[in-house]
Amino acid sequence: MTDQIAFIGAGNMAGALIGGLIADGTPPERLIATDPSVEKCQALGAATGIRTLQDNREAAAVADTLVLAVKPQILRQVAREIAEQIQDRRPLVISIAAGVRCDSLQSWLGGDVPLVRTMPNTPAMIQAGATVLYASPWVSEAQRGQAESLMRAVGVTQWVDDETLMDAVTALSGSGPAYHFLIMEAMENAARELGLSAETAHLLTLQTAFGAARMALESSESPESLRARVTSPGGTTERAVRALEEGGIRDLFRTALEAARERSVELSVDMGKA
Ligand SMILES: NC(=O)c1ccc[n+]([C@@H]2O[C@H](COP(=O)([O-])OP(=O)(O)OC[C@H]3O[C@@H](n4cnc5c(N)ncnc54)[C@H](OP(=O)(O)O)[C@@H]3O)[C@@H](O)[C@H]2O)c1
Repeated sequence: MTDQIAFIGAGNMAGALIGGLIADGTPPERLIATDPSVEKCQALGAATGIRTLQDNREAAAVADTLVLAVKPQILRQVAREIAEQIQDRRPLVISIAAGVRCDSLQSWLGGDVPLVRTMPNTPAMIQAGATVLYASPWVSEAQRGQAESLMRAVGVTQWVDDETLMDAVTALSGSGPAYHFLIMEAMENAARELGLSAETAHLLTLQTAFGAARMALESSESPESLRARVTSPGGTTERAVRALEEGGIRDLFRTALEAARERSVELSVDMGKA
């Protein structure tokens, strides 16, 4: 029997990962998902051909890799429920729950478990996510590779070797899509005030954001250098960029990321309380 990958919780993120893995060539027979909702299980099973179960313990008892994909608030209850099977079988456990630290999860699972904590973001839903991974000490090199290739099914991956950096990651890529949506919203509104139709303002804003992100990703140049190249002295871009700089855009982002990191620390502490 080939290695089994089980997802505990068959919601949005698990669905995205399962879809990405199947699209990447993982046979559906290798995948299992659990969820309390019979309807959700039936729909997922019918759409993907994977096996679905209502019983988390049954899935944990056969999994070689177990992905914890429930909401952070119920992770403690779920982890305690499957701790015995995890201790017996010792699969690689991958948590995608935001803000739950490895020491909390280890204690709920009974300790010494090969555990990788990850922080994906919402664009994972369309296979354009950015996921950061952190491996606890019991994770082997081979298991690191397994965790990384699993998360790569929904986008790019990066590792951190200090778990406290997960709070900075949460502030950057975790919350980051919302910062970009806010910028799009502000640009769209400003364009309408300049007289463009709502439809034109919307399309031009989105395509400009997409084009800029794609150029930055595909170029070997830094965003700073790309910006300098489209900012001619005395031109329109220069005047707009000056207005943004004088308005304090850099300090605003610094303050925003620090605030998000601080909140992430607070939430992790709350989540770990017994
Ligand atoms: N969505 C994102 O962009 C994002 C980004 C970063 C991290 N994450 C993390 O990913 C995890 C999942 O998020 P999500 O957005 O996919 O949430 P979601 O759609 O609510 O998925 C969670 C699933 O778990 C199921 N569930 C509830 N109780 C369960 C139990 N006891 N046993 C097994 N399954 C159970 C839920 O079923 P019911 O709906 O029937 O209760 C739901 O289908 C969270 O921990 C979140 O922090 C998500």
